[in-house]
Amino acid sequence: MHWSLFPLAAVPLLTQLGHSYEVKTPPLDTDWTYKVGTDPWPEYPRPQLRRDDWLSLNGIWKWRAASGLAEATSPPVDEDLIDDVLVPSCLESALSGVMVQDVTYAWFTRNFEVPEDWETTAGRILLNFEAVDYEATVYINGKEAGFHRGGYWRFTIDATDLIVSGNNTIHVFVFDPTDMGDYVIPLGKQTRSPSHIFYTPCTGIWQSVWLEAVPASYITQLDVAAGMDGKVTAKVWTGSNSSEAVKVEVIDNGGTVIATHEGSSNEEFTFTVDSPKLWSPNAPNLYNLTFTMGSDEVKSYTGFRTISVGEVQGIPRPLINGEFIFQFGPLDQGWFPDGLMTPPNREAMEYDLKFLKSQGINMLRKHIKVEPDLYYRACDELGILVIQDMVSLRTVTPNAEQQAEWERQIDLLINQHKSYPSIYTWVIYNEGWGQITSYYPEFDIAAHIKEMDPTRLIDATSGWNDHGAGDWHDNHHYATPQCGTPFYSILSTPYDNKRIAIQGEFGGIGHNISEEHAWKVQKSINEVNQTYELSTDLEAYNYRGHTLLRELREQIEKYSCSAAVWTQTTDVEGEVNGFMTYDRRLIRLDDQWKDDIQALYDAAASRGGASTTRR
Ligand SMILES: *[C@@H]1O[C@H](CO)[C@@H](O)[C@H](O)[C@H]1NC(C)=O
Ligand SMILES: *[C@@H]1O[C@H](CO)[C@@H](O)[C@H](O)[C@H]1NC(C)=O
Ligand SMILES: *[C@@H]1O[C@H](CO)[C@@H](O)[C@H](O)[C@H]1NC(C)=O
Ligand SMILES: *[C@@H]1O[C@H](CO)[C@@H](O)[C@H](O)[C@H]1NC(C)=O
Ligand SMILES: *[C@@H]1O[C@H](CO)[C@@H](O)[C@H](O)[C@H]1NC(C)=O
Repeated sequence: MHWSLFPLAAVPLLTQLGHSYEVKTPPLDTDWTYKVGTDPWPEYPRPQLRRDDWLSLNGIWKWRAASGLAEATSPPVDEDLIDDVLVPSCLESALSGVMVQDVTYAWFTRNFEVPEDWETTAGRILLNFEAVDYEATVYINGKEAGFHRGGYWRFTIDATDLIVSGNNTIHVFVFDPTDMGDYVIPLGKQTRSPSHIFYTPCTGIWQSVWLEAVPASYITQLDVAAGMDGKVTAKVWTGSNSSEAVKVEVIDNGGTVIATHEGSSNEEFTFTVDSPKLWSPNAPNLYNLTFTMGSDEVKSYTGFRTISVGEVQGIPRPLINGEFIFQFGPLDQGWFPDGLMTPPNREAMEYDLKFLKSQGINMLRKHIKVEPDLYYRACDELGILVIQDMVSLRTVTPNAEQQAEWERQIDLLINQHKSYPSIYTWVIYNEGWGQITSYYPEFDIAAHIKEMDPTRLIDATSGWNDHGAGDWHDNHHYATPQCGTPFYSILSTPYDNKRIAIQGEFGGIGHNISEEHAWKVQKSINEVNQTYELSTDLEAYNYRGHTLLRELREQIEKYSCSAAVWTQTTDVEGEVNGFMTYDRRLIRLDDQWKDDIQALYDAAASRGGASTTRR
């Protein structure tokens, strides 16, 4: 199908007055910085609910800072909204073309036309935002169309009744206080005063914006879980409680339909597929799905796998398809020097994942950030297990209202991500950040998550204040591991042999990088070359790495260690402890790492674990 391209080809004279888009020079660039151009993230952004009729609204928008919340009540009529900005991007990033700090309020706007062949009287036109940090008030043609709170979640606005044929205008008012003043909101590593482990914040429309055409009655969400016994549990949501006939087809890699089932919308149903090829990190088999409800047809996919806890030789273990596979991988933050929270493009995002896979790594911990959906799709395809953290609050205790809002957003995390086979564990708290300790809310939250999603494990407290909730007992310790061991540091809780043991963080060793790979916004000596332990050269770094991995292997052999998370995939800003530098141009690891990682799986196999073939 062909639709005319946007933004509209004829550039009105007025726009000439503003700043036209040009990528800024970031404090450190990557091989992708100057390849992004003005057509960023052109891929279909929602891999588990695909439709044919869609139009990306990514590209050049206009923006300006706003003075306060009062401005949000009506779209601007002034003529100052003329400076270019790239969408999606963080305003603070070089890729935005703006690279400005400390903007709390901002307007964004662009025009669009709905492709002519979508304009059927019966159908609806949906405007999708994959993520806007932190609050968005959306206007279409001057009328309020919707509001959304929460910087990491998808939201959809039914634009049908507000759009006209021909030229339409979107305005988005963004409010993002980050950690300013008394604000306590889910923000992860973002801070207005970056240093060591906290980084430059992200403000604005940082993931894709797009339009889609749907029939009058349409599917709003698909929940799909498929187990090692071939049982598929599905729920097809619509905007109402209607019970409409739904048909699902399961398609194998050769394109053959291997199972079909009929159910009803808004009601969970199950059916069984005969002897499917299972999904695991060693064999990431996926099956395409087609769901049909009336005239709505959507494509999705799933992987058959079962995550559980079981005893192997008397030790509680995480089981994947009934087998204990040791899980090793990095703390993965997903920050880039040019795009900050927005990866420059899909290739850059997948570069990190493919590198990890090439080292024999089978897991990662997605650290207090949520990625674009295509990231989880890539983990599903590559076979990388994902421990997904909830986005943390800043390190203060929230009041009751802030806690309630954070818990509301936990539901969004689970509901928007519970159909990715690769995600196998949810983390509620990281190191006590925002953790209320006057009572232990993690018990209720963990129970609530299990109700919403019984197919995964819960790590209620990754590091620090563990009161016994969840499936994992998680210790953080730098640089040495203390995984499933009866010795522990003053900050961690004593080993609990009733739950599975994970070293949720360790390593963090770094090396003094040369200027060319350094994040060049160093304000003081305390903000750069930071990590838990610094080697002056790569030889010393690798020597320490092997020593720490040997210790970890011994803890698998001798104690009850089931999984471990190494800090971290890349350097981030002034923190220099990645497998790679922040620009991804220098890989620190020598060849020995692959053997050391393989030795972890072999050690687990000697204790009843599944043997993992050498890659
Ligand atoms: C679309 O409308 C906006 C104002 O609402 C105007 O600035 C813009 O020039 C129009 N574009 C076209 C192609 O007519
Ligand atoms: C669906 O039904 C529930 C329970 O009867 C009700 O609370 C809810 O408002 C209904 N939702 C819609 C969209 O009609
Ligand atoms: C499965 O779906 C993906 C995404 O829509 C598509 O690229 C691929 O060709 C499909 N595979 C088969 C065998 O139908
Ligand atoms: C950090 O390390 C780099 C590389 O050795 C060096 O160029 C830079 O001066 C260091 N910065 C500080 C503040 O020590
Ligand atoms: C890292 O480099 C800086 C600047 O050259 C130097 O001051 C510092 O001592 C170095 N640190 C180590 C551990 O080598």
